[in-house]
Amino acid sequence: MSIKSFHPPVRTLMGPGPSDVHPRILEAVARPTIGHLDPLFVAMMDDMKALLQYALQTHNALTLPVSAPGSAGMETCIVNLAEPGDKVIVCQNGVFGGRMRENVERCGATPILVEDEWGRPVDADKVESALKAHPDAKIVAFVHAETSTGACSDARTLTRLAHDHGAMVIVDAVTSLGGSPLKVDEWEIDAVYSGSQKCLSCIPGLSPVSFNQRAVEALKNRRSKVQSWFLDLTLVMSYWGGGTKRAYHHTAPVNALYGLHEALLLLQEEGLENAWRRHWDYHLALRAGLEAMGLRFIVPEAARLPQLNAILVPEGVDEAQVRATLLSRYNLEIGAGLGALAGKVWRIGLMGYSASAKNVIYCLSALEAVLTDTKAPIRRGVALSAAQKLICEREQRGYLAVGSAP
Ligand SMILES: Cc1ncc(COP(=O)(O)O)c(C=O)c1O
Repeated sequence: MSIKSFHPPVRTLMGPGPSDVHPRILEAVARPTIGHLDPLFVAMMDDMKALLQYALQTHNALTLPVSAPGSAGMETCIVNLAEPGDKVIVCQNGVFGGRMRENVERCGATPILVEDEWGRPVDADKVESALKAHPDAKIVAFVHAETSTGACSDARTLTRLAHDHGAMVIVDAVTSLGGSPLKVDEWEIDAVYSGSQKCLSCIPGLSPVSFNQRAVEALKNRRSKVQSWFLDLTLVMSYWGGGTKRAYHHTAPVNALYGLHEALLLLQEEGLENAWRRHWDYHLALRAGLEAMGLRFIVPEAARLPQLNAILVPEGVDEAQVRATLLSRYNLEIGAGLGALAGKVWRIGLMGYSASAKNVIYCLSALEAVLTDTKAPIRRGVALSAAQKLICEREQRGYLAVGSAP
């Protein structure tokens, strides 16, 4: 056998996730593995819960990282709260709303679909009409930051509407957490899940989940057992919520959790508002460069996510070839379009550690070079100065780079 150790190249990750992992997180993951019931590990888990509560802006006692990626967070919220016979209003304005619907169906619940054009936020009026037409709906489920399009929906308004009609909400915050404002307690979100690999800049494979008291009550009052043993929060809590008497449920991914702990610590050191600001500022710089080249965004300005920039592929350009050249020549990953947008857009991520001046300049420079090679109809020589202007203005306002806080 000639199989050798795997040594991946150092890429610059500016796709829809995973994002660049902060060196402090990579170093944390490489620390010695200890037992998942070791008292020192258990103490680290308590700190992690406090850090997660800060990141999510919640005091929810049921706040924990599920030992699997964002899809498992989605499934955790849905299998624990939706039962056979329940009605769930599912908002779909991209790929991930569709997955929520699939999960709802698999629980034996009935999805009521509210559809919006891809690239647009969820329309609150349509959700209100669905709530009026289905007064017995138990849950409204929606994606806060739709990674497939770059559209941000108004989580606060949608939650208020659902509550006005007696329904709970399940919010997908996989791409929003750490990148744009998300206030679980203030907005009264009932159940929320996220992912480690986007704006937290951690390694992939963990999904923070949080339930408020209302969601916990709904879980306690279920008519039937949760269909998934692994994701049944009443069982998972015997490990995560057991204090000093934690019982074995599954072997926690010890080293990955060191990484998440470090990622959340970095976020706390930077400060949530500063992290949101950083994503926004670098989005504006990237946008200035892209628009100076003549490239166009697909999401209307008011609903744009700073961390996911979906831009139209110029006419006549082979989008896959451009991505392949960026990867092979510059070690730079940007994302392709998904589903209805496949072949039509590129998705440029500015998530977590990737949301930096270095990445903005690198991406604009590489993209301009590759598009010039392909004879794409872009304006040359103007993107970098347009972006630099905003980067310098940010520096003059005195903002720190991520990880540089004391
Ligand atoms: C909005 C959204 N929800 C859910 C997921 C699923 O997360 P994961 O791929 O970590 O399972 C993703 C992943 O990109 C996402 O962007």
